[in-house]
Amino acid sequence: MSKAIPSRRVISVVGARPNFMKVAPLHKAFQKYPSIVHRIVHTGQHYDANMSKIFFDDLELPHPDVYLGIGSGSHAVQTAKIMVEFEKIVLAEKPDMVVVVGDVNSTVACSLVCSKLLIPVAHVEAGLRSFDRAMPEEINRIITDSIADLLFVSERSGLSNLRTEGIPDSKIFFVGNVMIDSLIDFKDKAGRSTIRKTIGVEGKQYAIVTLHRPSNVDVRENLASILTMLEKISKRHAVIFPVHPRTRKMIGEFKLVEKLRLNTNIILCDPLGYLDFLCLLESASLAITDSGGIQEESTYLGIPCFTMRENTERPVTVSEGTNTLMGFDYEKSAIEAEAAFQGKHKKGHIPEFWDGKTAERIVKIIEEKLLLN
Ligand code: UD1
Repeated sequence: MSKAIPSRRVISVVGARPNFMKVAPLHKAFQKYPSIVHRIVHTGQHYDANMSKIFFDDLELPHPDVYLGIGSGSHAVQTAKIMVEFEKIVLAEKPDMVVVVGDVNSTVACSLVCSKLLIPVAHVEAGLRSFDRAMPEEINRIITDSIADLLFVSERSGLSNLRTEGIPDSKIFFVGNVMIDSLIDFKDKAGRSTIRKTIGVEGKQYAIVTLHRPSNVDVRENLASILTMLEKISKRHAVIFPVHPRTRKMIGEFKLVEKLRLNTNIILCDPLGYLDFLCLLESASLAITDSGGIQEESTYLGIPCFTMRENTERPVTVSEGTNTLMGFDYEKSAIEAEAAFQGKHKKGHIPEFWDGKTAERIVKIIEEKLLLN
């Protein structure tokens, strides 16, 4: 008679927009293991429908099993509130493992809770470092990696960073980029989106812009220079700018709305869902961004990307991909944008293991570890 394998409970945490496309392929991969009960806890760090719910629909993710409804706040308030509420869930559900992704406040808050309760933590997208401690995400990455039990790495730089920090090799797994799993999964569906027609750019060349980092949008001079850069580009090409809530707030506070109001070639819209955004990115001549994920997605798609930051925690997108760090040089960016529109940009190639199978590799390793415990 074969002995029944007891079921294991795994909780994956999502909180903010960049988390959803990382947990979707993991959730799918967990379904192939009947011995694992996989639950999703949403902290509610992002809560607007277009920053959260639409991603569940687009990515065919089930509703979260638990919604903590934390909302916005200072870093301390947000992190502390997530810890208080997530601890209750962990105590009630007693998971065998908790999976956290990326580098947002929800990632570090939930990792801290688990490490104090001796619940193993798996960190997906471990080892990335910008070496810029002014970025809240860098602090989140360092702390999460220092207490995680399994560290899943998306690019080779992550391996050397973790080794330098003294993390033993036995905890580190180079598995590739789980966000690219979602991109590969949903590329065809995104291609059927009608967004290009809806916003009037079908058959046209355009740049797609996303900006939300405090270094770009919370400093009036920088935000004003960014809008001037977009004005310059828009003289010859359409510019699509889905505006993040933080950026919208700062454009209002700094009274910069007038710079945009009369320019019909700068198409402002609310944040877009996953499929519409992917559809627009795939046909863009240029992406201008300070996001981490878009540096990777544009590298995969071969779209030139200008990153409006002085550093990146994803160096493979520069060394092998289509990404260029533009720092805060908005004038140079406006000039170089024209070259990108003419097809004169670095071509790059797809980094190792960005092959759509990362979630399968991760879940297989998690299952093996759970069987050992
Ligand atoms: C967070 C992450 C960042 C990630 C980004 C993606 C941290 C430290 N930062 O930054 O790494 O790249 O998400 O978007 O975790 N707001 C809304 N509705 C929402 C969410 C936010 O209006 O659904 C507004 C609130 O005014 C809030 C502000 O946006 O204060 C910023 O939100 P917050 O979650 O604090 O940080 P993000 O800038 O979104």
